Amino acid sequence: MTGAVVRWLVAGARGMLGQDMVGVLERAGQDVTATDRDVLDITDAAQVLDAVRGHDVVVNCAAWTAVDDAELHEPEAFGINAIGAARLARAAAQHGARLVQISTDYVLAGDAASPYEESAPLGPRSAYGRTKAAGEWAVAAECTDHLIVRTAWLYGGGGRCFPKTIARLARERDHLDVVDDQVGQPTWTMDLADLVLRLVRTGVPSGIYHGTSTGETSWFDFARAVVGAAGLDPEMIRRATSVAASGPAPRPAYSALGHDALVRAGVAPIGDWTARWTAAAPTVLA
Ligand SMILES: NC(=O)c1ccc[n+]([C@@H]2O[C@H](COP(=O)([O-])OP(=O)(O)OC[C@H]3O[C@@H](n4cnc5c(N)ncnc54)[C@H](OP(=O)(O)O)[C@@H]3O)[C@@H](O)[C@H]2O)c1
Repeated sequence: MTGAVVRWLVAGARGMLGQDMVGVLERAGQDVTATDRDVLDITDAAQVLDAVRGHDVVVNCAAWTAVDDAELHEPEAFGINAIGAARLARAAAQHGARLVQISTDYVLAGDAASPYEESAPLGPRSAYGRTKAAGEWAVAAECTDHLIVRTAWLYGGGGRCFPKTIARLARERDHLDVVDDQVGQPTWTMDLADLVLRLVRTGVPSGIYHGTSTGETSWFDFARAVVGAAGLDPEMIRRATSVAASGPAPRPAYSALGHDALVRAGVAPIGDWTARWTAAAPTVLA
C-alpha cells in the first residue's frame, strides 16, 4: 500500500490506543475516519457494514478491557471482543478491506519460560483472555486479509494505565508494594500505533504479529523506572508477590512475546522497553 491513498477506519478511537492510533495516522497524512461506540457500536452488524464501506483498512481498537469485571460479565465481554470483532471482520471481507485486530498476551497461558512465538497454542486462563482468543479466531475465519496484532502491558497518555497510577500513588504514600513475579513487556500506545501503520504500509502477509516492546521486566522493576522518571526515590517501591495482590482474574506469570514474524516480514520490532519508556515518560506522566 506504499504511496497509495489509504482510507482508514478506526473503531474504539476514544480509547487509550485508539487516540494515539488516530493521531499517528493523521500526522502521517492518512485519510482517517475515527469512530467510537456512540457512532459505531461494533456489535451492531448493520452499523458496522455501513461504516466499513469505503475504507481500505479497519483497525479494531474497540474492546471490553476490564479484565477483572469480565470474570462476572463474560457474555457481555464476548459480545464485544468476539462477536464485535467478527462483525468488523465480516464487513471488511465484504468491502475488500484489510482488518487489523488488536489482541493480547492474555490469549496465552502465561506460564512460559521464554518469549512466546506467534504460532504458540492459545491457552487463555481468564474470561477476558477467552473472549479475546475467540476474537482472534473469528477475525481469521471471517476475513482472509487480516492482521492480528497482539500487544501487552499498554500505557499511553490518553487513558488509565500502570505508570500514571504508580506515579500518583507514589506522590501520596511513603512506599508501594508491587509484584515482582509477573514478567512482560511494557508497551507505549504510540509505538504500537506506529507499528500498525508500518505493517500496513509494508503490506505484510496476513497473520499474527506481536506488537510489544522488546526485552522483558516485572511490574516491580517497571514501577521503579516510573517512580524514577517522576523524580521520586525508586527505593520506595517494595517487592510483593501476586498471592498478596490477587484479584478475580488470574494474571499471566510470564507473557513476553517474541517478534520473529515481524523480522521475517522485514518490519522492525518496537525497541527495548527501557529506552521506549524513557522516550514516553514525559508525555505519559505529563
Ligand atoms: N490496555 C492494555 O494493557 C492492553 C493490553 C493488551 C491488549 N490490549 C488491547 O488493546 C486494545 C486497545 O485497548 P485500550 O487499552 O486502548 O482500551 P480502552 O482504553 O478500554 O479503549 C477501548 C475503547 O473501545 C470502546 N468500546 C467498547 N465497546 C465498544 C463497542 N461495542 N463499540 C465500539 N467501541 C467500543 C470503548 O468505549 P467506552 O469507553 O464507551 O467503553 C473505548 O473507547 C484492546 O483490543 C485491548 O484488548 C490492551
